[in-house]
Amino acid sequence: MIMHSSVWPSHRPARVSIIGAGKVGSTLAQRIVEKNIADVVLLDVVPGLAEGIALDLMQARGIERCDRAFLVRSAYRCVFGTNNYADTAESNVVVITAGSPRKPGMSRDDLLQVNATIVVEAAKNAIAHSPDAILLVVTNPLDVMTYLAWQASGLPPQRVVGMAGGLDSARFQAFIAMELGVPTVDVSAMVLGSHGDLMVPLPRYCTVSGIPITELMDNETIERLVERTRNAGSEIVQLLQTGGAYFAPAATTCLMVESILFNQSRFMPASAYLQGEYGLKDIFIGVPCRLGSSGVESVLELNLTETERAALHASAQSVLKNIQRANEIMSESQSTTRLLLALWKLGAHKSTDVKRVDLTEKIKRTGEKASDYQGIFDKLEQEGAIAFEIKNRNRVILLTEKGVQMLRELLNTDEF
Ligand code: NAI
Ligand code: 2OP
Repeated sequence: MIMHSSVWPSHRPARVSIIGAGKVGSTLAQRIVEKNIADVVLLDVVPGLAEGIALDLMQARGIERCDRAFLVRSAYRCVFGTNNYADTAESNVVVITAGSPRKPGMSRDDLLQVNATIVVEAAKNAIAHSPDAILLVVTNPLDVMTYLAWQASGLPPQRVVGMAGGLDSARFQAFIAMELGVPTVDVSAMVLGSHGDLMVPLPRYCTVSGIPITELMDNETIERLVERTRNAGSEIVQLLQTGGAYFAPAATTCLMVESILFNQSRFMPASAYLQGEYGLKDIFIGVPCRLGSSGVESVLELNLTETERAALHASAQSVLKNIQRANEIMSESQSTTRLLLALWKLGAHKSTDVKRVDLTEKIKRTGEKASDYQGIFDKLEQEGAIAFEIKNRNRVILLTEKGVQMLRELLNTDEF
């Protein structure tokens, strides 16, 4: 939907854009609308989806009396749906929830391939229209997606943050409260590390009205709750069978949005960029931090025991491995884009216009390296015949008929 200037007030209040109007995105929109803390722009790739949800939410405002806080906040708030990034312009906060959720039996890491391109595109497009925004990532696998979004956005790392630690801590908090039969509000819990199977719940830092849980429960019980916290996301995926949790994820994200919008400097675990803290570098991972209008204001370094620190490092290793995998996926997908462009330039519009030549066997047999072929590929391309890396570092290439002839001549073979 287009935002007409007559509808969009000139004295505009804070704006939060949510990319992805699925379960988490739409529930987050609902929370922000009901709290009346900002205008919301919902964007989704599915035509009509974001517009429909936005209209529905706009029509609920009067019933829910969302404007009641107008004495302290602007009375007029809007919620828009769109599939055009231009409509998200000048957002104060951009939240990325676009991408696939898990299916039963899948780990969050299984979403890497499908979500990497979506998140990179979303971050690039959104920040191009809102260069001053804080970027808040929700899509899984969370820590890797936050890293990719940061790279793609070109923002300083402090302006990019991932939502997970707050959710994992809230789950631990809920399980402790359920076990002891105390109000959740009296429980405070802390979970660090990646948002995955290797997350690091820290019982030493969990309390009930200031009393450490280690004084209220035996080790076996604590270990059971720790395990349940680690599996809390999967437990819900298994029960729902059609996607993951969204109420608690949206509530946590909303808390982070509020802390940023109102410069509250709330102190909570979130996926932040580390530059040596906890002995970790060039990684986004869950650590306690302060969140304010400039993003991650500071990271607190806890005095961890050897075991806790080792667990955090194991968690970080799995994130680093996946960042590397994601970068490979991204460069393969860039290769595919370059390939399509090259095909288009040569007028070879269909894959049947080119021949796939696999050099793997030849390279293995002769002991050559794929890179030894670079000169040949360059020559082929200069002559207007496609020779294009498509995977495995140049082992498989696509050639036009003319290219196949040239390759045979250059290699003095009729093998292909
Ligand atoms: P969902 O499937 O309900 O919604 C995802 C939405 O993204 C869909 O509406 C889809 O059309 C949209 N989308 C897909 N590609 C897009 C693109 N290129 N541009 C714009 N929109 C696009 O999924 P749900 O449950 O909302 O979860 C979203 C993501 O958040 C998943 O990856 C999920 O695993 C993750 N998640 C992360 C949590 C965390 O703690 N960090 C907690 C809960 C979910
Ligand atoms: C969760 O933990 C799926 O990451 C999501 O619920």
